[in-house]
Amino acid sequence: MLPRHILRVDQFSRGDLQQLLTHSREMRRIADAGGDERLKGKILATLFFEPSTRTRLSFESAMLRLGGEVISSESADHTSSAVKGESLEDTIRIVESYADAIAIRHPLAGAAETSASVASVPILNAGDGPREHPTQALLDLYTIYDELHRIDDLTVALVGDLRFGRAPRSLAMLLTRTERCRILLVAPPGIEMSQDVLAYLDAHNVVWEQLHDLEEALPRADVIYMTRVQKERFPSVDAYRRVSGSYRLGEEHLARLRQDAIIMHPLPRVDEIDTTVDADPRAAYFRQARNGVYIRMALLDLLLRSRIRTA
Ligand code: NCD
Repeated sequence: MLPRHILRVDQFSRGDLQQLLTHSREMRRIADAGGDERLKGKILATLFFEPSTRTRLSFESAMLRLGGEVISSESADHTSSAVKGESLEDTIRIVESYADAIAIRHPLAGAAETSASVASVPILNAGDGPREHPTQALLDLYTIYDELHRIDDLTVALVGDLRFGRAPRSLAMLLTRTERCRILLVAPPGIEMSQDVLAYLDAHNVVWEQLHDLEEALPRADVIYMTRVQKERFPSVDAYRRVSGSYRLGEEHLARLRQDAIIMHPLPRVDEIDTTVDADPRAAYFRQARNGVYIRMALLDLLLRSRIRTA
């Protein structure tokens, strides 16, 4: 049984993940067949206080493909009543009376939890500042499962901004639910993975290693997970410039990658992956983005179909 709200990856057991992966596969079949009407009469609100292309649109596409409807506040930081000084809690109390579920993205760590504490409808965390992006990690795991046909016994290289990137943080923590996982943490000095995540990996017996050199990770990894340096979360432009452009995966690296490896990226990319890599069959990032629809269909279906509203 899935949690009522999707806030963090530590809410998911291995059993939940297995259910979700299987259900997402079924959702893909339904989407390919033109969708169905199982969420007819239900409304999803997408409330985004930070920029987004994939996450918001794939949530909306997922809802529409299951026959539901969508209301959206896409630049809520500029256009919602937050501008007038309304608290997040009040905004949620209002929006929940217009919708059956709320997907929220917000710059503050913990914003999804705050929302859930006052909400009587499911809250889906679509990114809370630099902290978590659970639905991204779920679609990442689904992508690994779909591409490599397993989620156990993997070496995963997380590359780039591991300090401010919520996608690699959530994925690292979700990988603790798999067996015999090894994580290579490849980051420039100053933006390495935070201590709280390292402690979490240790507590779950995940083997990890910190590297600065991408070249070293390439031949060892089953999954190369590239990420963007999160410019908007740096204290100054200078601090950003010191680490931007640290890693760039180009055509010249492809020969060093294992034949059965995959290259992933939550997107958007800036310059971390050269466009010449896109034609390589191991480049999985566009397929990964499409998988966001299937995993979000599965989540919405499981959260909305068999539940009765509380309060
Ligand atoms: C990521 C995010 O917003 O955290 N994007 C996404 O949701 N696919 C990654 C990023 O912005 O770099």
